[in-house]
Amino acid sequence: MSEKTTWERFFDAHAPIYDDNVFTKNTIREVDFLLDELHLPPGGSVLDVGCGTGRHAIELAKRGYAVTGLDLSSEMLSRAADAAKAESVHVEWIRTNATQFTFPEKYDAAVCLCEGAFGLLGQSDDPIDQPLSILCNVSRSLKPQARAVFTVANAAAMIRKYQNKDVAEGRFDPLNMVESSEHAPRQGLPAIAVRERAFVPTELILLFRIAGMSVLNTWGGTAGNWGRRPLEMDEIEIMVVACKAAELLAAGGTAKPRV
Ligand SMILES: C[S@@+](CC[C@H](N)C(=O)[O-])C[C@H]1O[C@@H](n2cnc3c(N)ncnc32)[C@H](O)[C@@H]1O
Repeated sequence: MSEKTTWERFFDAHAPIYDDNVFTKNTIREVDFLLDELHLPPGGSVLDVGCGTGRHAIELAKRGYAVTGLDLSSEMLSRAADAAKAESVHVEWIRTNATQFTFPEKYDAAVCLCEGAFGLLGQSDDPIDQPLSILCNVSRSLKPQARAVFTVANAAAMIRKYQNKDVAEGRFDPLNMVESSEHAPRQGLPAIAVRERAFVPTELILLFRIAGMSVLNTWGGTAGNWGRRPLEMDEIEIMVVACKAAELLAAGGTAKPRV
């Protein structure tokens, strides 16, 4: 791959402490929830985009599914591989940019969780092309009717955080829903400037539709508080449950929400 993106540098440096984050502590309940939504056949195949240290991928593998975990950060993947070994489960780990991979139509489901790649913009990424290319790649990788669950940054919460002064000073771009900020990946390391894109549910429905998927439901999806419940204005993440629906798209239709 070419030169490291800012998020790759960030997660490479953050990897040793990623699993200390409070939002990573609900993996078992999250996987229970995913399995209710994904309608997987026994032993089915799952693609985890932006899998990080592999917490969902490994738990899914422990429950008998064939999992591929994809991530940009070699340090996150290295921890994922160690954790899978410690649990004696097999997961296929692939280091690639989620905007660039191509797999055949072979997965029974896909997940992209806690903003795993989706909307984590490199310095030159276009705010529409980046998420759309990830959706197209995921859609192409799925079998017809296969389901996907994404949790992505919520624009309502991002907008409410900022004032005109922040726009003038470059911290928030309201035209593209992009936040620019600097974070130290861990204590003692210099801050890295990163860009993060947030989304409104209607544009998510449209982006998924362009990529050949139908959104079945949009719910509140903040880590630690997943549920089949309405999105709250200030919560960090939106959950999208979708299915690959070539026939519906060709017919110009949309799927009815299902619960
Ligand atoms: C906040 S973590 C989420 C990890 C995991 N999904 C979870 O729920 O714990 C975001 C992950 O996305 C990865 N990532 C960021 N941009 C990416 C890209 N363009 N392609 C693939 N992975 C990316 C990062 O390396 C990081 O591991």
